[in-house]
Amino acid sequence: MTPQQLSPGSVYPRPGPELRPGDVAVLVPAAGLGTRLGPGAPKALREVAGATLLTHTVRRLAAAPSVACIVVAAPTGTAADVAADLAPVTDVPLHVVDGGPTRQESVAAALWALPDPYPIVLVHDAARAFAPPDLVERVAAAVRDGHDAVIPVLPVVDTIKQVDGDGYVTATPERATLRAVQTPQGFRRSVLEQAHRAARSPDGALPATDDAALVERIGARVFCVPGSAAAMKITNPADLATAELLAAEPARTLAQP
Ligand code: C5P
Repeated sequence: MTPQQLSPGSVYPRPGPELRPGDVAVLVPAAGLGTRLGPGAPKALREVAGATLLTHTVRRLAAAPSVACIVVAAPTGTAADVAADLAPVTDVPLHVVDGGPTRQESVAAALWALPDPYPIVLVHDAARAFAPPDLVERVAAAVRDGHDAVIPVLPVVDTIKQVDGDGYVTATPERATLRAVQTPQGFRRSVLEQAHRAARSPDGALPATDDAALVERIGARVFCVPGSAAAMKITNPADLATAELLAAEPARTLAQP
C-alpha cells in the first residue's frame, strides 16, 4: 500500500492529501541520558519553557506537511509514559519504542518498528528540539528529488585539527572542505534499512555517530543541503539558555513552510 492509497482518516487526520503528501516517516532517537547536561532526567525529558525537549521536537516535526508518521525511541522503561505525554501534542500517528544502549541501536529499534507505507525516512535527534519544519521539508524534498541520502550542513567556523591519543596534531583538513552535520537526515527507506542491516553484521560492527556514516559504508552517495542555526544540538548546560530563546520564537522555529 502506498501512502496515497490510505484512507484520509487513517493517516491524514489533519489537512488533506494535497496539503500533506504524507510520504515521510521520522525516527526520533530520544533515549540518551544527556550526562553532559548535568544530573537530572534523561535529556529528551528535561523541560524547557514548560515542555519537554521531546515535546518541542515532536511539535516541530508534526508541523512539516510531509510528515505522516513519527516513531520515538524513548529512554528504557519510559515508553508508556512518553506515549501518554505526546498523545495530546499531535494528531500525526505516533509510536514509541524502547531505545537501545547506543544511538545507533535506538535508531534501529525505531526503524524495525516502522509501519509499512513510508518510502522516505528521516532520522532526527530529540536533542535538536528546535529544528524548524522548513528544514524537515528541505531534507525530504531532496530525497524525493532522487537522492538516496541527504544531510543538512553548516559551514565550519573553527579550524579543525585531527589529533592522536597522545595529544599531538596529525593533520589539519582544509576548513573550506569541512561541514558541521545536523539532523534531520533523510533517506530512501530501502537504503537506510540496508545500511542498518549491514551495521548489524559482524563486519559492520564499528559504531557510527550518525546514520549517513552507515549509508556511506554501503557505498551510497550522501547529498548536502543547507542546515539551520535553530537545529543546534542541546548538549551542555549553556545550551539550555539558547533553547529557552528558541522556544520563545515560535515564528522562527515553528512556522509551517
Ligand atoms: O549522545 P548524542 O548527543 O550523540 O545523542 C544524539 C541523540 O541520540 C539524542 O537525541 C539522544 O537522546 C539519542 N540517543 C539515543 N539512544 C542512546 C544514546 C543517544 O536515542 N543510547
